[in-house]
Amino acid sequence: MLYPPGVYRAEGDTELLADVMRKGDFARDRDVLDVGTGGGALAIAAAHAGARSVTAVDLSLRSATTAWVNSRFAGARVRVRRGDLFTPVTGRRFGLVVSNPPYVPAASTELPRYRKARCWDAGPDGRALLDRICAGVADVLTADGTVLLVHSAVCDTECTLEALRRAGLAARELARITVPFGPVMHSRATMLESRGFVARGQRSEELVVVEGRRE
Ligand SMILES: C[S@@+](CC[C@H](N)C(=O)[O-])C[C@H]1O[C@@H](n2cnc3c(N)ncnc32)[C@H](O)[C@@H]1O
Repeated sequence: MLYPPGVYRAEGDTELLADVMRKGDFARDRDVLDVGTGGGALAIAAAHAGARSVTAVDLSLRSATTAWVNSRFAGARVRVRRGDLFTPVTGRRFGLVVSNPPYVPAASTELPRYRKARCWDAGPDGRALLDRICAGVADVLTADGTVLLVHSAVCDTECTLEALRRAGLAARELARITVPFGPVMHSRATMLESRGFVARGQRSEELVVVEGRRE
């Protein structure tokens, strides 16, 4: 896989979501949407896991281009669109939506548009993108569709479950692992401690995969 500067390199969160998708056979014979595709790792994993079709969206032109190139190298049929969350797929429905969105609490409410921090900054509580995805995803799911989201427990798993339920989906946690802080969380450890997101001295976080399902 190619990861030019500015494109998110697949990490433990990517791998955890890909694992859950593969083990649960979520993608098979489904039209899959990967929201915030970065270099395309989840889109490619979905294609290789038997998806009927895969569409990948990213706000960043460089990420969208990279996802296109990586999917071609991987022999995966992925349709790539540039744009904001669900806007490029308005009017379409998917049997599976996957997303590893930006979820790291930031000092500012501003969401960076062009800097690499676009990949992780998600407003003061880390939920700027998660809340929008939870509120909008039901509109792009088929009648038996499923959404799988991965994020840090730091930005409140219960909040994600509640937001999906408010959108009319049955929601539950599917997986949880503990990982050491990566460079971004390390650089924000003092801010995260002072705002009560992590305990003093804590330098690991839990990653969770949450499922929302139409019933
Ligand atoms: C944490 S990275 C995940 C990349 C990839 N899915 C993975 O797991 O390796 C989040 C991605 O979301 C993209 N993104 C941020 N805001 C977005 C938005 N409003 N609409 C679409 N994509 C967005 C970023 O450009 C970045 O590529």
